[in-house]
Amino acid sequence: IRKIGVLTSGGDSPGMNAAIRSVVRTCAFHNIGCVGIYRGYQGMIEGDFKEMGPRSVNNIINKGGTILKSARSMEFKTPEGRKKAYDNLVKAEIDAFVVIGGDGSFTGALLFNSEYDFPVIGIPGTIDNDIFGTSHTLGYDTALNTVVEVIDKIRDTASSHNRLFLVEVMGRDAGHIALNAGIGAGAEEILIPEEDMGLDRLLDSLKKSKAAGKSSSIVVIAEGDKIGKSVFELKDYVESNLPEYDVRVSVLGHMQRGGSPSCFDRVLASRLGVKAVESLLEGKSNFMAGINQDKITLTPLEQAIKGHSEIDSELLRVSDIVSI
Ligand code: F6P
Repeated sequence: IRKIGVLTSGGDSPGMNAAIRSVVRTCAFHNIGCVGIYRGYQGMIEGDFKEMGPRSVNNIINKGGTILKSARSMEFKTPEGRKKAYDNLVKAEIDAFVVIGGDGSFTGALLFNSEYDFPVIGIPGTIDNDIFGTSHTLGYDTALNTVVEVIDKIRDTASSHNRLFLVEVMGRDAGHIALNAGIGAGAEEILIPEEDMGLDRLLDSLKKSKAAGKSSSIVVIAEGDKIGKSVFELKDYVESNLPEYDVRVSVLGHMQRGGSPSCFDRVLASRLGVKAVESLLEGKSNFMAGINQDKITLTPLEQAIKGHSEIDSELLRVSDIVSI
């Protein structure tokens, strides 16, 4: 392998820049070329490439977002799109690539590899932490800290007005952000996609909170929760069933994906970048570099996609206990 491409794909996450920096500098350390591929797989299809050296990634370790930009490419889902991408990689003399992204990005990489036998290693980058084979994805730790910081502010106003706040956080299919940030921010209840809490239990719990002398409350709700109502419908429902509550809604949205990465995410990104490049140089392909019990590991991409990053049920129990 003489030249490696690097791209970020799917939803961006804090720490992606630190990972790009690590990939570029590990290539330089081993005296091989590195090419930045812009806008994910779409840039691969359009040949939007730029040679990168150690100085191209100065002063980015602390930056959120991705200097390579990101996209969710529809064209890469077609055989024609992938053929164009392959032709561009060959023309640019790129022998392998590192893709930083989530399961959609890994699915594209596997498909591409099955057609063109092109060496690839994945680095998990998503705030959702929903990838099997790594205890942490890049950006997850930063997003948790962002959410906790914001809920702390919401708590100030909630307690001043004796209000109940429904705070919606990201996570279409995964409740890791809601559950961990919920515990970290001291939420009364946490609604996640993995468990159907049911409306009755929620109302019951809120009634108990009032009876226990709490004057304000925070309920953290993952986007993809199973309650079957939007957060605004839920506000109306709670207010009509529990008139003693004055309810407000806060949808945190994309702010959760931005900001300077935490030290944890920067170190993780640096370690995963080194592992990804060195694995390619050792002739490995179709793996995802991840972290488990503070050791950097490789998991077959296929397992990373198909496996489930399960919710720790002990956390649900902890949340119930500490919110009484
Ligand atoms: O997968 C990361 C994520 O931020 C999810 O938590 C969220 O549901 C989704 O991306 C939002 O996607 P988009 O930026 O395309 O609106």
